[in-house]
Amino acid sequence: MPAVVMDGKALAAKVKEQVRSQVEPMSQKPGLAVILVGDNPASRVYVNGKKKDCGECGIYSEEYALPEETTQEELLELIGALNDRADVDGILVQLPLPKHLNEKEVLLAIRPDKDVDCFHPFNVGQLMIGEEGFQPCTPAGVMRMLEEYGIDPAGKHCVIVGRSNIVGKPQAMLMVKKNATVTICHTKTRDLKAECLRADILVAAAGRVGLITGDMIREGAVVVDVAMNRNDQGKLCGDVVYSQAVEKASYITPVPGGVGPMTRAMLMENTLYAARCHGKV
Ligand code: GUN
Repeated sequence: MPAVVMDGKALAAKVKEQVRSQVEPMSQKPGLAVILVGDNPASRVYVNGKKKDCGECGIYSEEYALPEETTQEELLELIGALNDRADVDGILVQLPLPKHLNEKEVLLAIRPDKDVDCFHPFNVGQLMIGEEGFQPCTPAGVMRMLEEYGIDPAGKHCVIVGRSNIVGKPQAMLMVKKNATVTICHTKTRDLKAECLRADILVAAAGRVGLITGDMIREGAVVVDVAMNRNDQGKLCGDVVYSQAVEKASYITPVPGGVGPMTRAMLMENTLYAARCHGKV
């Protein structure tokens, strides 16, 4: 039987509606500042989406579209000013940054209580030790989607393909918190197929078209495709060969319309959370 397709678009709309209804009665609205440096077209699309989401949720948003040749000092100065503003609860610097900028230093400059991406080492540490706080948007979106479809990771074997700081590593932390047994695979994994076949929940986050084929998926596994790639025809696709995987999996996320919209919805939740932490009611 083909898999149940997990509808990230519909669930994201529901999450955003929940955020909107909580923001509506607030006397001081949550605020999000989004910084984009340079003219990466994919980043521009993401930033536009975030602005639109803020509008839908009643969240105040500001965009800073800075030229490619922005210096480290200029960027740090802007972040410093936003750190000090009470109307800005969240600061997001769209990645990747142009090569001449020091990403690590930039992420460190964002005040942890405004770090709605959950990229600051303080927040990453909080996540690691299981403390309450921000959760990174994409992994949190995956967890929310599993919850919505009644999939409890407890006791299950979760195999994550990809070890990025944005997805793979924090995803592992959230899965462990939910009592899953976790394997993280990466480019040096000796037998990726054998590892994937052990998965009750397979999270593909490697960023390689066609990496996960049907023969790598155990019958009845839950398949979550986090990747956003372009194939040879320029079409948006994930890491999973969907047509094959849908015949093996019990649940599957599509690309587009799966994890992507959930990531954006979780950013809205994080911005609301930041505003609450700042005492806005
Ligand atoms: N670039 C790709 N994904 C993300 C994300 O989740 N946050 C930021 N800031 N940049 C990204």
